[in-house]
Amino acid sequence: MAGKQQDVVDVLLDQHSQIKSLFSRVASEPKGTQKRELFQDLVRLLAVHETAEEEVVHPVARRRIDSGEQVVDSRRKEEDQAKRELAQLYDMGVDHPEFNAKLAKLSEAVAQHADREEAEEFRSLRQQVPQEQLVRMAGAVRAAEQTAPTRPHPHSGESAPANLLAGPPLAVFDRIRDAVRDWRETQRVR
Ligand SMILES: [Fe+2]
Ligand SMILES: [Fe+2]
Repeated sequence: MAGKQQDVVDVLLDQHSQIKSLFSRVASEPKGTQKRELFQDLVRLLAVHETAEEEVVHPVARRRIDSGEQVVDSRRKEEDQAKRELAQLYDMGVDHPEFNAKLAKLSEAVAQHADREEAEEFRSLRQQVPQEQLVRMAGAVRAAEQTAPTRPHPHSGESAPANLLAGPPLAVFDRIRDAVRDWRETQRVR
């Protein structure tokens, strides 16, 4: 394909908008199986996205951008908090009377987190890290995506990877982190 290759910032920005729209789809779905499946998709998407940031993007930002240490420490705290709240939502279950209210709070927190990343971290990455490296880093995020397809084929039931990646959010995050680390080992992307 001609033109500029997608870099890691392009991929992450695209995921930010997918995350926002999946939050609203979960929220607007009435109770039941469909809502549960959409919530599980959201868990997988957040796991892919935040894990790729944690393993591949934040370490580079920490070393390379101005005030990288402070910027990344603040974002990591927000990510840990979001992970805990996601686990609480999972334990609560989608049919719980307070599920939607708690989901709305998390959705707002994650949107603010994403805005801060875009303003304080991604912009500086583009200014201070060579484009070639940013393109290479995009590969790690795609590798994470491939371990966790968020849209299994309709009619085929749950795909094997989807089954493997269903369940408690903390376990899903761990499995995806292992996959990203394996990929990084083979590629030596730092
Ligand atoms: Fe993040
Ligand atoms: Fe993000």
